[in-house]
Amino acid sequence: MSGRIFTVRLSEDENAVEILDQTLIPNRIEYLRLETAGQIFEAISELRVRGAPAIGVCAGFGMYVLARGMSGDLLPQLERAGEYLISSRPTAVNLSWAVNRMLDCARKHSGSHDELLSALKSECTAICDEDKAVCRAISENGLTLVHDGDGILTHCNAGALAAVEYGTGLGTLLLGKERGYNFRAYCDETRPLLQGARLTSFELSHAGIDTTLICDSAASMLMKQGKIQACFVGCDRVAANGDTANKIGTRSVAINAKYHGIPFYVFCPRSTIDFSCKTGNDIVIEERSGSEIKTNFFSQPVAEESVKCWNPAFDVTDAELITAIVTERGIARYPYTESLRKLFS
Ligand code: MRU
Repeated sequence: MSGRIFTVRLSEDENAVEILDQTLIPNRIEYLRLETAGQIFEAISELRVRGAPAIGVCAGFGMYVLARGMSGDLLPQLERAGEYLISSRPTAVNLSWAVNRMLDCARKHSGSHDELLSALKSECTAICDEDKAVCRAISENGLTLVHDGDGILTHCNAGALAAVEYGTGLGTLLLGKERGYNFRAYCDETRPLLQGARLTSFELSHAGIDTTLICDSAASMLMKQGKIQACFVGCDRVAANGDTANKIGTRSVAINAKYHGIPFYVFCPRSTIDFSCKTGNDIVIEERSGSEIKTNFFSQPVAEESVKCWNPAFDVTDAELITAIVTERGIARYPYTESLRKLFS
C-alpha cells in the first residue's frame, strides 16, 4: 500500500498483529491491534482483514503472536490455534497454507523455546516479504498482456489492500501507473459487501488511475460499447484444472467477457493454487448471512426480515472461461492441468 497506509503487519512490540480495519474504508482509516486468537478469528471472519494473500499474512503473524503467549509444549497448542484460525473462512486457501507453513516450521524445530520463537518469527516475516516480491512479479507479467490506454474491468478487490503491496489483480494497474501507462479502470461495485466500491475505487483513484465505479450489472453494456479491453480478477483458490474460486459474480464477468471476445485474466500467487483440489467441485464455498444482502450499507432494510436469502461469498469460474492465469512464475494458458503443473513443477 502506498503512503502511510498498510494492510497488515507485526506490531513493534511483537505482541499483536496490526491491521487496517477494511470495513471502515473509505470513510475512516483506523487500525486494530489483534492480540488473541478470538480477535484474529473475528477480524478475518468479519472481513476487517480480507483478500486471500492478506488473510494468509495475518494468519502467519497471528500464529507467531499466539506462540509468544504460550508456555510449555508449543506444538499441540499451536495446532489447536491453527485449526481454530483456519475455520474462520473456508474458501481462501492462503489461510490454511500460511497456518500450515507455521506449523511445519514448529514441527521441524528441535531447539529451545526461544529458538523456536525466533524460527517462527523468521517464517511469518518470510511469508509477508515473499508476498510483496510475488505480487510485484505477477504485476510485471500482467503488464505484458495490456497496452497503454486500455479499459480494464475489475471485480472485488485484489489490490494492495488484499495483500501487502501491489496486490494481484490490481498490481498491473498500479505498477503500470508508476511506469506511465494511462489505464482506464472500471470497477464493479461487487455486491453484496461492495469491495469494488469501497476498496478498489479508493485504492485506484488514490493511485491517480482514471477510475470509474459501475454497478455489477452495467459491465455487459460497457463491454458491448467497446470500452473494456481486458478483465482482471484475483482469486481465492485455484483448482489443479484451473477452475477458479473468486468473489461472487466473477463467473458472470467471465461469461460476459467470452461472449464479447474480451480476454479474462486471473492473477494469482502459487500460494493460491491448491493442487489437492482436482476441480472447482472440490472447493468449499463460504455462505454468509442474508443481512449482508438486506441491511448492510442501507439506512433501512431493502427486503422484509422474513425473506429468505442465499448469500454465497464466492463462485467458481470454469477453467474454459479463463484466457490466462498470471502468476509470479509466468503466464499459464488452457489446459491448466498441464500448464500450471509445468510452471510450478
Ligand atoms: O471476501 P473477500 O473480500 O475476502 O474476497 C476477496 C476476493 O475475492 C479477492 O478477489 C481475492 O481474495 C483475491 S485477493 C488478491
